[in-house]
Amino acid sequence: MTQKIFPEYLSLHSQNTSLVLELPAGEAPIWRYWGPRIRDEAPHDLRGSRPLPSFMLDFDQPLTLAPSFGVGWLGQSALLAHRNGQAFAQAFTQCDVHWEVPAQSVRVVLTDPVVAIELTVHLSMDHSSDVLTLKSSLRNLGETALDVQWLAAGTLLLPAQAQNVRSYAGQHNHEFLLQTDKLSRSLWRRESRRGRTSHDCFPGAVVTTEGTTESMGLVYGAHLAWSGNHQQTIEWLHDAQYQWQVGEWLAPGEGLLAAGATLHTPELVASCSSQGLNGLAANFHAELRARLNWPGGQMRPRPVHLNTWEGFYFDVYPDKVKELATAAAAVGVERFVLDDGWFHGRHHDRAALGDWWPDESKFPQGLGDLVAHVNALGMEFGLWFEPEMINPDSDLYRAHPDWALQLAGRPLITARNQLVLDIARPEVSDYLFEKIDALLSAQPIRYIKWDHNRDLTTAGLHDGAAGYRAQVHAAYALFARIRAAHPEVEIESCSGGGGRIDFGVLRHTHRVWTSDCIDAMSRVGIQRGFLQFFPPEIMGAHVGSARAHTTGRTQSMAFRAAVALPGHLGVELDARILSDADAAELKAWIQMYKDLRDRLHHGHVWQGTIDDGIVWQAHGDVDAAGMASDVLLLVYRTQPTHHRYSPRLPLPMLDTQAHYRVRQLVPAGTVLPTGAHNTAPFFDALNVGDGMTLDGGWLRHAGLPLPRAQAETAFIVQLTRV
Ligand code: GLA
Repeated sequence: MTQKIFPEYLSLHSQNTSLVLELPAGEAPIWRYWGPRIRDEAPHDLRGSRPLPSFMLDFDQPLTLAPSFGVGWLGQSALLAHRNGQAFAQAFTQCDVHWEVPAQSVRVVLTDPVVAIELTVHLSMDHSSDVLTLKSSLRNLGETALDVQWLAAGTLLLPAQAQNVRSYAGQHNHEFLLQTDKLSRSLWRRESRRGRTSHDCFPGAVVTTEGTTESMGLVYGAHLAWSGNHQQTIEWLHDAQYQWQVGEWLAPGEGLLAAGATLHTPELVASCSSQGLNGLAANFHAELRARLNWPGGQMRPRPVHLNTWEGFYFDVYPDKVKELATAAAAVGVERFVLDDGWFHGRHHDRAALGDWWPDESKFPQGLGDLVAHVNALGMEFGLWFEPEMINPDSDLYRAHPDWALQLAGRPLITARNQLVLDIARPEVSDYLFEKIDALLSAQPIRYIKWDHNRDLTTAGLHDGAAGYRAQVHAAYALFARIRAAHPEVEIESCSGGGGRIDFGVLRHTHRVWTSDCIDAMSRVGIQRGFLQFFPPEIMGAHVGSARAHTTGRTQSMAFRAAVALPGHLGVELDARILSDADAAELKAWIQMYKDLRDRLHHGHVWQGTIDDGIVWQAHGDVDAAGMASDVLLLVYRTQPTHHRYSPRLPLPMLDTQAHYRVRQLVPAGTVLPTGAHNTAPFFDALNVGDGMTLDGGWLRHAGLPLPRAQAETAFIVQLTRV
């Protein structure tokens, strides 16, 4: 439905939020509001309510949906472009509004007839998740090329109460490192030019307002659904509000638009909540869950993995691997993933990427026998690939040295001894498709761990142009092609751990490898950041060996398992050499996961901390009033207590008008502490029969008593409304 008239306002509403744009004739829409739900009534017009300040332009130029450079807007522009040094300033003087779904989904088409460009901003608000999605397309209507340097996927308005921005920094083995910056009149900007989502700079952030806590207060979040270069800025405006722009960072030349061509941005996925950080997380989780494209249309219970990497590294000889599979099946593993080391010539990380057929010395008859062994044990088989990469020491490179991204006259820059394939070339992606397809067709391989272990540097295409953007689109196309040919196969996105975790790659994949760091203490923090945007059922979480390979710290089986439990559980150790006691304990934890995974992997996730080294998270459903009915609570003690008596834990999701049956959960065979210094009648009662019935109001406000416990231990409790 096309409306040629100009309504004065454009409003989108979801269950709990609203967005209002003002539509003055002959201009881009003016940003008026994004926040908690308001009624659909026209506000006063903006310019009529703010007198002009001194020594300013003689007209008022507020923030628009598409602020552009050079014709009155003096802040950050959503578009920076020129035509061979001309046409550097743009102004949208025509605005057409095309509703797709009234009050929910709209295309705003903005035209600059002078520069001859058309910008379409698509906005859509999901009623139930409160998620706002924006994406932009810029069409070159002129007769010469337009060089676009920056095109925001969307420009958002943040209110004057915005106070802090929580973004995520990090590195390999330490993803989702929280960084909190105070917003001020200085520009806040984060960029990544690594050619992938990156460990260092997650493409998204959360903006809090004064008084925001985990469960209360107005909070805003935005995330770019994109696995390449990105940029976001938050800029203070002269009316004390802020604008937030997020988009793809374009390398020079990547935005060069021939006459008639269109540049499409990735999606900007944003939301706001009055329920603090946990409310915002619930919105993002709901949105991603609606987008995930599961084989068969629906998520199956997440099968317990065994991944061979930290147990065997490259040493994947079939006899050993079969023994490992047998040991894995004995503890309850359901999917066996053969990681790196299985393909032609791959005995270390210096060679073989690109040669995707079984190594003749390890698997002379191919993988069929191993896959059959794994299947006979009742497990699915999964296989590791790193399709986008090539080692100079590989048959593929010797045959096609020109297939690597490179720049004429520049040295090849390796990382982990590897180069990046130019998969935007059809013959390269055809080669990869054929190799992967051959393996998937020859035996029942139901799972791919798809890795990407380096940043992009000299990413020159065959014609010498920058290929960062083309690479991401080509990767998405290859994912899609493999999924279309093998719709039963699930895919895990890995990139040296969590270097490619975003809503873009999750259009094609079903799990992410959260981090190469499996140290349970490190994982407590990494997973907390992850869960701000992504739901737990896609969070690869493994029980590693007692001594963590990446940090050298040692943790008990119980703590390692309890930290991995709420995610998509896996095991990554040599299960053949576990002591009988360790194997029995691991098996009991795996059984507990199977009993709980249905509870863990839908509904809300609440997270919080108590300033005594306590980190907690709860998984449960809420009723129409937002009150939790059935909650699984995991409390991690990360440090020794500073108190003689443990602090209590208030549970803000509980219904003050209800009672809850409270029961401690432990894996079968666990011996609980005894003795006056270690336990108390209250905790003993939590373990007997159905546990205790306690008042919701008491638990919510006075709090649940916590046991006296050593550092690096977990306390797991089920609360069921009675
Ligand atoms: C990356 C991954 C690991 C493992 C190795 C194999 O580092 O994150 O899990 O697959 O590659 O080389």
